[in-house]
Amino acid sequence: MGITVDLDKYKTINAATKQDSEKFNAIRCNTVYRPQLHITPPHGLLNDPNGFCYFNGEYHLFYQWYPFGTFHGMKHWMHLTSSDLYSWNEHGSKITPVDKYESHGAYSGAAFVEDGSAYLFYTGNVKNGEERDANQCVAILGKDNQVTKSEHNPIIKSFPKGYTGHVRDPKIIKDGDVYYMLLGAQREADLKGSIIVYSSDNLLEWALKGKLSIDIGADFNDAYMFECPDLLEVDGQDVLIFSPQGISPKQERFQNRYNVVYCIGRIDWASLTFTVTHWDELDRGFDFYAPQTMNNNPNEPTLIAWAGTDGDLPSEQYGWVNCLTAPRKLSIKENKLYQELKPINETKLNSVLVNLNIKTERIIKLESLSFLLDIDFSQAENIAVVIFDDFNNEFLFTVDNESKQLTLDRSNYDHNEKEYEFGSIRSCSLTEKSKNLTLFCDQSIVEIFSDQGRNVFTSLFFPSKGNQYLKITFDEPAEIKATLQYVNGI
Ligand code: FRU
Repeated sequence: MGITVDLDKYKTINAATKQDSEKFNAIRCNTVYRPQLHITPPHGLLNDPNGFCYFNGEYHLFYQWYPFGTFHGMKHWMHLTSSDLYSWNEHGSKITPVDKYESHGAYSGAAFVEDGSAYLFYTGNVKNGEERDANQCVAILGKDNQVTKSEHNPIIKSFPKGYTGHVRDPKIIKDGDVYYMLLGAQREADLKGSIIVYSSDNLLEWALKGKLSIDIGADFNDAYMFECPDLLEVDGQDVLIFSPQGISPKQERFQNRYNVVYCIGRIDWASLTFTVTHWDELDRGFDFYAPQTMNNNPNEPTLIAWAGTDGDLPSEQYGWVNCLTAPRKLSIKENKLYQELKPINETKLNSVLVNLNIKTERIIKLESLSFLLDIDFSQAENIAVVIFDDFNNEFLFTVDNESKQLTLDRSNYDHNEKEYEFGSIRSCSLTEKSKNLTLFCDQSIVEIFSDQGRNVFTSLFFPSKGNQYLKITFDEPAEIKATLQYVNGI
């Protein structure tokens, strides 16, 4: 029995039968819980965004995809393209792990665009019983949208001495004439997380430089693995992003099973040091992991992440699980990283804008759960935004400028028993008055951007069928302007 399950788990989409295809079509057609402007898998499981780049006049994005079930199995790279980062054309699996060096999945990685080619770096995951091996690989995305694996694969065979088989998720950066590859890793000696660096002058031959030293004291020493390292320049500063696994909660931070950290500072390639001037948790909600950035579209560094957990989610009964976040524009203000929702093209939003002048309370019966809400409350102190149903289940976000707290409460939506152990309230202390927020709700995901993205909360939520309402309240009468726009059915 065990063996049958294992074989099944590691088959590729090439082995799909006619029955599988029929099942896949049925899953694809069911719209329950399906976001309209967020990327979901047609069937099966989605996790990390991969290969995010601007190439050949459009945006390209891939994601980790297991087509056959809503659990982690043989990972493929699903390919999507877009001209606006919201409407995506799906092109199917473009990196299908059929080769020996990737026998247990084409794991995460990033794109590097240069001289008219997009190089897709990824990790070939190999399992031999309990043993794990990792090969670094590259494939080339052509202008015809076809992806060809390099004949030089694996370009880095196995993992270096001093590390375990947990070495993965390549990200390429160019400095002068030298290419650097960052990889998430685990040290052999103490089984703790690290980022390691290779260098190359031709993208195919790589030499190990060593471990990146990140001077942030003891805060992440308890991580057993660093996944998905990312590095980019934002507003003239270097920003290092990674997903440490196994860190303990620290007051209001790191409350999730898996958490993401960003560091602002400076990378020095000669000494392999990242000097940190500020760091924080990247997103303050429940469901946010393994983000990836795109910075080859000038002036607009953009981030997208896996909005999911490893727990059981209600959409699994419909044959798919997890989505990606909406794209977010990155900027730095007062040495803090801001993530602003990328503007959604007007044509995708209901052209009749609903301008709400709210005194102290306004309740609206929602026409749809795909909507964008903008509230400017600079004239008021405290505000609550609630999405609720006929059974009084509430999804609640509050801004309390007196006690200087933002709070997201999804206690009524304990959709996931496994994750419930991590609690159902997230909060974030304010250092200055909060004045506005944008809430983007899309069927089963809500992203809340407070104060132009100074603090962001990402949360999945699986509402009941039936009527849904929006309630906005203030504790004192004030003229508040809010705009509610529905996403056009697509
Ligand atoms: C992060 C991660 C990566 C890995 C991929 C496998 O969620 O564990 O480290 O490459 O997912 O799907």
